[in-house]
Amino acid sequence: MDVSTALKSRISTRAFRPDPLPDGLVRDILEVARWAPSGGNLQPWKVIAVAGAEKDAITAIARANPGADEAGERTVYPANLWEPYRTRRFKIGEDMYALLDIPREDKPARIRRYLENYRFFGAPVGLFFVIDRRMGHGQWAHLGMFMQSVALAALERGVASCMQEIWVNYRETLARHFGLPDEEMVYCGMALGYADTTAPVNRLRSDRAPIDEFASFRGF
Ligand SMILES: Cc1cc2nc3c(=O)[nH]c(=O)nc-3n(C[C@H](O)[C@H](O)[C@H](O)COP(=O)(O)O)c2cc1C
Repeated sequence: MDVSTALKSRISTRAFRPDPLPDGLVRDILEVARWAPSGGNLQPWKVIAVAGAEKDAITAIARANPGADEAGERTVYPANLWEPYRTRRFKIGEDMYALLDIPREDKPARIRRYLENYRFFGAPVGLFFVIDRRMGHGQWAHLGMFMQSVALAALERGVASCMQEIWVNYRETLARHFGLPDEEMVYCGMALGYADTTAPVNRLRSDRAPIDEFASFRGF
């Protein structure tokens, strides 16, 4: 698979088949992704991979305390998101619920769908990306490059993914569960597995702003 195809065909998969992923395959994905660049070659990332009973225990943690809000000061979005970001965020959510035929008024169905996150959408493997709290914005960006590398290396091996920042809601609980030292925190999760290609939610295709909305060319 060439890089352009990989970049354009990676999507957030939100329904997985239960088939397990061998640990060798997960290692293979990380083996490739670890070549992601980082400033000063700090490689400011750690990964915790969970499967089987370990993964189920994490889901149980979320079930036991619905509505947890442990993001702290590193929230997923800035407060009072402004345009054009507010509209983009709204649109992807509405596009998904429209595809699933879940209207705005059907709050219970929307909540059920949202809670699928905490089952890793049925994926056999969950990854948690951990960063040292002392790191700055640069290192967080570099961790993002690493995560995209994981997603692309997975895709090349027929393995689908969905990044899951939603796990910040359980940031402190997860830190305790994993026994992280005080200086480490979970940034993001990722569901990993084989896509359920029959699931309607996986037909969702997000759009992107055209180049001239975000790029300017000077001195050409
Ligand atoms: C860092 C990061 C965290 C994300 N967290 C979640 C999440 O918690 N739950 C979810 O369903 N999607 C999550 N997404 C998926 C985004 O909604 C998705 O990437 C975006 O809408 C573009 O769609 P695409 O990934 O299919 O191209 C996350 C994406 C990124 C990059």
